[in-house]
Amino acid sequence: MDKETLNIVDRRTDAAYDLPLYKGTLRAMDLRRIKTGPEDFGVMTYDPAFLNTASCQSAITFIDGDKGILRYRGYPVEQLAENCTFLEVAYLLLHGELPTAVELRQWIAGITRHTMLHETTKKFLEGFRYDAHPMGMFISTVAALSTVYPEARHVLDPEVRRLQILRLIGKVPTIAAYTYRHNLGFPYVYPDNDLSYAENFMNMLWRMVEPKYQVNPVLARALDILFILHADHEQNCSTNVMRAVGSAQADPFVATAAAAAALSGPLHGGANEEVLRMLDEIETKDRVPAFIDNVKSGNGKLMGFGHRVYKNYDPRARIIKWAAGKVFEVTGKNPKLEIALELERIALEDEYFVKRKLYPNVDFYSGIMYQAMGFRPEMFTVLFAIPRTVGWLAQWQEMLEDPEQKIARPRQIYTGHEARDFVPLERRGATVTA
Ligand SMILES: CC(C)(COP(=O)(O)OP(=O)(O)OC[C@H]1O[C@@H](n2cnc3c(N)ncnc32)[C@H](O)[C@@H]1OP(=O)(O)O)[C@@H](O)C(=O)NCCC(=O)NCCS
Repeated sequence: MDKETLNIVDRRTDAAYDLPLYKGTLRAMDLRRIKTGPEDFGVMTYDPAFLNTASCQSAITFIDGDKGILRYRGYPVEQLAENCTFLEVAYLLLHGELPTAVELRQWIAGITRHTMLHETTKKFLEGFRYDAHPMGMFISTVAALSTVYPEARHVLDPEVRRLQILRLIGKVPTIAAYTYRHNLGFPYVYPDNDLSYAENFMNMLWRMVEPKYQVNPVLARALDILFILHADHEQNCSTNVMRAVGSAQADPFVATAAAAAALSGPLHGGANEEVLRMLDEIETKDRVPAFIDNVKSGNGKLMGFGHRVYKNYDPRARIIKWAAGKVFEVTGKNPKLEIALELERIALEDEYFVKRKLYPNVDFYSGIMYQAMGFRPEMFTVLFAIPRTVGWLAQWQEMLEDPEQKIARPRQIYTGHEARDFVPLERRGATVTA
């Protein structure tokens, strides 16, 4: 018998099946061969929340959650964070290889050409209430780009795809900065194409009346590193949404908006905002033990802790903690840091968290760092969405080029009523009480 097969005996029929394994994985469709008779649909798998289901084959990002490993296209994220710019990493994720000097120059020029928003899109943004949540504005505006670039719907044309990828990577910082300024009531700042990706974003956020905004290089580098760390994370919730919406051949603007909507949830990209709210609620270091006891009694979660995949440590958290230190050297310490360090210290020793393998995740320190840089918590998820747009696009492109992929459409186990006859309105109450 082939060693890479799984031998299954169906006790209902005593039939035996050899099902091939590929990289330790069973093809769910092979289970459909297991039937009790010709009328039988065949065996399905049931996997709510995809706890044990590979939905695709992907060559982009590798994670070993038990060992705390994260690699983009084979390169450890630590090495990329140390040596690359975000746009270099974006190229790597989308093209599979690091760019040569010429390729990088062309890539940056291509993205820089697409940083401006159409004036009507700017007006669209102006229509939001003064206190609109930046993530709501971000999601809606990215979706609205689909009306500006109707040709984007030709998703099977690689050239059309390439152009939309440049547009999206170029425009998401501009949209993000506009949402920030809108909340503050400040006039919008147009992109400055002489600046790097992170510098231009900072210029659009913080330039006031000065003719040329002076970017602090330490802060710009810290932001670029955070962008690298957030660029992709294989089949997470929002990426799965990107692939699912994209599988219906929706255009990349609405698919990205849908992915961003998933990201906005507090269990996903919204967590860093929640971390800050939690630190606000704790208020002082001495209240940390009581807060932890409360979490252990089932009242809420320790936000910024735990991960579906990382059960050892989140390698991104370690780099962010380091980058946060660099930022604090410029901005001064965020007073929340003391509470965060104390929470981390106690939680890492506490049996409850140790047993459940709950470690600080990417969101635990990013929020404190963002706050020190002057962002309000409402902006945090938008800051996550900018780099993750690259990951979404890389995964979307891979999905469209994968001959095995079709429109994503899961099965269900139906648990509702058997067929029953319609009850006219006047007899319904009687049916219930009869
Ligand atoms: C990320 C997260 C959604 C992963 O969830 P998951 O893989 O489904 O893990 P589970 O919810 O099954 O958690 C397993 C156990 O740990 C507990 N747990 C998980 N995260 C916890 C947290 N942050 N604080 C306290 N307890 C937590 C659960 O209550 C559960 O306990 P139980 O076995 O006694 O029921 C979850 O850890 C979480 O909500 N964390 C806080 C939000 C956050 O920081 N998200 C950002 C992710 S990058």
